[in-house]
Amino acid sequence: LLCIGAGYVGGPTMAMIAHKCPQYKVTVVDVMPAKIAAWQTDDLPIYEPGLLDLVKTCRGKNLFFSTDVDKGIKESEIIFISVNTPTKTFGEGAGKSADLQYWEKTARDILRASKSDKIIVERSTLPVKTAIAMERILSLNEKGLKFEVVSNPEFLAEGTAIRDLEKPDRVLIGSKETKSGLEARKEIVDIYANWIPRDRLITSNLMSSELSKLAANSFLAQRISSINSLSALCEKVDADVNEVARAIGKDSRIGDKFLKASVGFGGSCFKKDILNLTYLCETFGLYEIAAYWESIVKMNDYQTNRFVQTITKAMFNTITNKRIALFGFAFKANTSDTRETSALYVTRKLMMEKAHVVISDPKAIKNAKNDLKEYGNDIEYQEDPYKAAKDAHAIAIITEYEKTSFYF
Ligand code: NAI
Repeated sequence: LLCIGAGYVGGPTMAMIAHKCPQYKVTVVDVMPAKIAAWQTDDLPIYEPGLLDLVKTCRGKNLFFSTDVDKGIKESEIIFISVNTPTKTFGEGAGKSADLQYWEKTARDILRASKSDKIIVERSTLPVKTAIAMERILSLNEKGLKFEVVSNPEFLAEGTAIRDLEKPDRVLIGSKETKSGLEARKEIVDIYANWIPRDRLITSNLMSSELSKLAANSFLAQRISSINSLSALCEKVDADVNEVARAIGKDSRIGDKFLKASVGFGGSCFKKDILNLTYLCETFGLYEIAAYWESIVKMNDYQTNRFVQTITKAMFNTITNKRIALFGFAFKANTSDTRETSALYVTRKLMMEKAHVVISDPKAIKNAKNDLKEYGNDIEYQEDPYKAAKDAHAIAIITEYEKTSFYF
């Protein structure tokens, strides 16, 4: 098995497969030599609770990391693709549609380096019908090779990735419903069946699988925006949003998860995937549906903005030179990932007001420094939250760390 892309999805997923399936040789390749080098040390390129222990059980035995993409492709029978698919920043669909340049390059690498038939597994989150497009690119080969593309979107959440991979709510595998498509589907189902009960292995057609990933993230983000919208009203009418959340969450039709009001969702996926869904709807002329989903992102921006305004208002409308400690910078607890974190937006706003910002986070200081390098020494970084809080005029709690875990 080969995985192209050694990031937050590729690394942990393949470590779990290698750990659970010693009968497979698993190789993970990436174009970034520094990342591959880090995967070979105990200072992994990403932080996830339990990841290092998992990697150590199989690294060098049946789990390997390499920069030699072509060799990996040549030697593999099944290729998982976990390359990044960020929001496009230029041209048609800029700001909404997925940027598929890394994806397409991977398809062309596979086409060039392959010497035998292969199953290609789409792990990245992609617009609906990408698998079909990929099969079209791959079928252009003049070597007579056959490629079957299967969709297997990843549902793990950072911070709990290892638990999610070991005991997932479900694994979704979509394929064409032709003879060869169903055979490829079975091969992928059989890999996961090594540790996941069969009733959690869901199968579907290709497009349903691709759309389900966008839909799942949009539904999750929708819950956050819904409770955040109510938090603004609660503040006006002296209701407590936590009490409201508890009361509605007890209704089994609603459920109690994802009902915590916050500064707004961040992370590399929610916003990107909703915008991707929005763009898809617009492409098919479904403008009302697009506007409905897009409003979730607008509500999120509103909430983050409101958070900063609340800080300013509470401090007599001026925060210039005031020491404001941010507790948490990562987009969620137990990760070093700061992509699209609300903290970044909050920090920039506070810096515009010339506040003295102090950032404290147990795992994400390195990424925070990188994200905010334009401010140089104007921002203070403190791993120790007590030092960050000392003499602070305000403490802004950004990341939902459990009290105990923050202090370690
Ligand atoms: P990432 O940015 O951490 O990792 C992607 C890796 O792919 C990078 O290391 C990059 O160097 C590598 N890459 C790009 N082009 C390449 C090429 N042509 N050959 C070899 N390597 C190449 O991204 P992450 O977070 O792992 O996400 C990957 C995909 O999975 C995205 O589509 C994302 O939407 C999806 N996803 C992410 C989740 C998350 O929690 N981060 C959860 C579920 C899905």
